[in-house]
Amino acid sequence: MLNQITNFKHSDEYRSRIHSLIPGGAHTYSKGDDQFPVLSPAAIARGKGAYVWDVDNNKYLDCSMGLTSVSLGHAYEPVLDAIRVELENGVNFQRPAKIEMEMAEIFLGLVPSHQMIKFAKNGSTVTSAAVKLARAYTGRKLVAFPSDHPFYSYDDWFIGRTACNKGVPSEFSELTATFLSTDLRTLQELFEKYPQQIACVISEPEKSHINDPSYCKRLSELCKKNGALFIMDEMITGFKTAFPGSIHKFSGCADLATWGKGIANGFSFCALTGKKEIMELGGIRQKGEEKVFLISSTHGGETISMAAAIATVEEFKKKRVLEHNHEIGRFFSEKASEVILKKHLAGLVDIVKSEWLPLFTFKDKNGSVCPGMRTLTMQEMIKRGVLFQGIFVPCFSHNRTDVEFFMAALEETLDVYSAALEKGFASFLVGEPAKPVFRRFL
Ligand SMILES: Cc1ncc(COP(=O)(O)O)c(C=O)c1O
Repeated sequence: MLNQITNFKHSDEYRSRIHSLIPGGAHTYSKGDDQFPVLSPAAIARGKGAYVWDVDNNKYLDCSMGLTSVSLGHAYEPVLDAIRVELENGVNFQRPAKIEMEMAEIFLGLVPSHQMIKFAKNGSTVTSAAVKLARAYTGRKLVAFPSDHPFYSYDDWFIGRTACNKGVPSEFSELTATFLSTDLRTLQELFEKYPQQIACVISEPEKSHINDPSYCKRLSELCKKNGALFIMDEMITGFKTAFPGSIHKFSGCADLATWGKGIANGFSFCALTGKKEIMELGGIRQKGEEKVFLISSTHGGETISMAAAIATVEEFKKKRVLEHNHEIGRFFSEKASEVILKKHLAGLVDIVKSEWLPLFTFKDKNGSVCPGMRTLTMQEMIKRGVLFQGIFVPCFSHNRTDVEFFMAALEETLDVYSAALEKGFASFLVGEPAKPVFRRFL
């Protein structure tokens, strides 16, 4: 039997104070207390490689790696070395920092179908900038995204179309339309319903649980035919599905692409890349043209995050990082399937096998997806030293031993799961099930 973590004293203190200081208790709702069981770390004190330590000094194998942003590992030495050098030169100046041109050339070197790039500190900024640029370029107002994908921005154009639209005037949300990524006839219908009104379609290029290799091509063709731009959001897929991302497989089909998580090993560096004739609208050299205020950010040119991004790109190139991560993803997927079979839980605990993002679904004994069973699984994995929410994001610091450790915890957890199938999760779960991030009421 694995050691069990039972001490959450400092976590409980943290939880009891943080919500009166920070609304939501965190800076993305995905990190919030309502996303985790009660018996869980409330805050992380430090991380190294594939492991993190909470405020009670409990050690966990990390599975989601900073919401998928940490592609090499926590406090990864070659990235830290690059930052230390840059730090000594100062981090923000009255004019652009020298490293901005180096960064632009390196990143665009990875995306041959795009000629210009703009930096920002978070993903929402670049997806919103892409939408603005598409509206400016096409002179149209409407935006479309797949409603079966979870998140593109906290800005009004996106969040106004979710259940959490309080604070967004309906005039804004009405400028966004949705379709289903699993049925592109619904996008065709949107183009028919709003002829020559849709400026762009923004979409992730692929999901590990939806396997449709023709999706991007068909989406881009529909956009072209109807005069809309295709924005490929590589926030999650970047540096994961391929290098630099899915755009490598579907080259040329995206007019604009957005990047963030994973490209700077967790540092705050995001980017919008695109075709020159569109991106140039955000420039200042087309005399007499109306100016498009694309991205303006005091911190957009901060240097250490760029040093982190350059070091991350170098590591990916030098050390065949993607191959390693994919090998771990495949090994993980195989091992997890074996454990599920061994525990006779096939059909109740499902795993999507994936080399870049294996993910689980947890069901009750009637076969219905069950948040309570999922939260119970999290509780039991956390107790056994695995910080787990239902996905595994392979990074360069994960090795086969870490995967074996995960599987030992999973085996024991699934025994509790089987017992809970009979008695109900409430007999085993302390506190309430985790809640959906996008819910109208608290
Ligand atoms: C596909 C996608 N796009 C955009 C974003 C926004 O990124 P950020 O949280 O850095 O603003 C996210 C964040 O989860 C995302 O998953």
